[in-house]
Amino acid sequence: MRDSWDKLYSDCASCTACELSKTRTNCVFGVGNREADVMFIGEAPGENEDKTGVPFVGRAGQLLDKYLYAVDIPRDKVYIANILKCRPPKNRDPLPAEEDCCIDFLRRQLLLINPKIIVCLGRISAMRIIKPDFKITKEHGNWFLKGNYLITAVYHPALLLRDPRKKEEMLEDMKAIKNKLDELNIKVD
Ligand code: URA
Repeated sequence: MRDSWDKLYSDCASCTACELSKTRTNCVFGVGNREADVMFIGEAPGENEDKTGVPFVGRAGQLLDKYLYAVDIPRDKVYIANILKCRPPKNRDPLPAEEDCCIDFLRRQLLLINPKIIVCLGRISAMRIIKPDFKITKEHGNWFLKGNYLITAVYHPALLLRDPRKKEEMLEDMKAIKNKLDELNIKVD
């Protein structure tokens, strides 16, 4: 049977496959343009995301918004989701078993959206989507082709809040992403 957004959302919102479902306020499904050519994939919801049900709305999200604005990529023209749809307690890293429980929701989102470009936000996302031994410090900004998807990874905005020295590299990576969109004639405005 063909998947639908309604079915996917209701499967996700009613999921009890792992312990995180017991402590969530909201399932943080994903937000943005469901026909986007570009998809940003983070790690897991934090406190503000859990409260609102919307990814990247806390401090890290506001910093992400600044980078999107700086390179002329309107947030509402891309799609933003996470590897995990429920918040891990105290924002700890997702457990591999939690990722395994949740990853099918992301897979289904990818199939419905069919983006051309995927941007992994941070190492957890890159290790799951690009390759398990992905090294964010060495490999951020590199491009990988997997199936039909052209994929890159940038630093997680929460890392930039802790280590502002990396902000320059982040801006360069974001500019390179915008250049790649221009080069491939992918319109985001
Ligand atoms: N960090 C993430 O990885 N995702 C969010 O939605 C918020 C913070």
